[in-house]
Amino acid sequence: MRLTYFGHSCFLLETATARLVFDPNLTANPNCPPGVTPATLRCDYVLVSHGHEDHCCDALALAQTHGATIVGNYEISEYFLAQGAKTHGMNPGGAWQFPFGRVKLTLARHSSSIGGPLAPIYLGEACGVLVEADGKRVYHAGDTALFSDLQLVGRLGLDLALVPIGDNFTMGPEDALEALDLLKPRLAVPMHYNTWPLIAQDGPAFARAASTRGHAVRALVPGESLEF
Ligand code: NI
Ligand code: MN
Repeated sequence: MRLTYFGHSCFLLETATARLVFDPNLTANPNCPPGVTPATLRCDYVLVSHGHEDHCCDALALAQTHGATIVGNYEISEYFLAQGAKTHGMNPGGAWQFPFGRVKLTLARHSSSIGGPLAPIYLGEACGVLVEADGKRVYHAGDTALFSDLQLVGRLGLDLALVPIGDNFTMGPEDALEALDLLKPRLAVPMHYNTWPLIAQDGPAFARAASTRGHAVRALVPGESLEF
């Protein structure tokens, strides 16, 4: 399985039979590699953790351009369905077997809304996304605080965990280390940092701190891929 990072919390996961984009943000993401656009990023599914624009601003364009299905909580699914996208609505705790593998929405501790004309429109609960495909289990934590139920996500064994470290809007590096203690993934990749000054963090320093604690972490540079 191959994972490619595009900065912020946006990744492409290539399984044997499908291309999945997590939290599509290419056009409002200063770290997005040149040439990676909604027009060029071919995909079959778009997995949206919550409604904030920095996690779904390009979901509709990807769905329209490539015929991809948007998967997210019920409110997000209805929001994009009303704009003509193909969607699949779920809610935390629920899983569904897609042709490429199984997707389960997990809990996250965060909010979920998108900008409206006067005030944000609330879009359900913020979630994490667990993907099982090709015998591997991959967890995208979305935006979240540290919370003890993360151990429930880790109990089946995670091959890869994508965890926010930016602080301010999500857990910061210190709490993210504790999250790794609960998740116990074979490998983790930090996300949701260095997009704006408010979430400036040192990815390699986080990886080193995690290593002294017994966790394997790889900080990917936007555009970089890893096979696992
Ligand atoms: Ni958010
Ligand atoms: Mn965010």
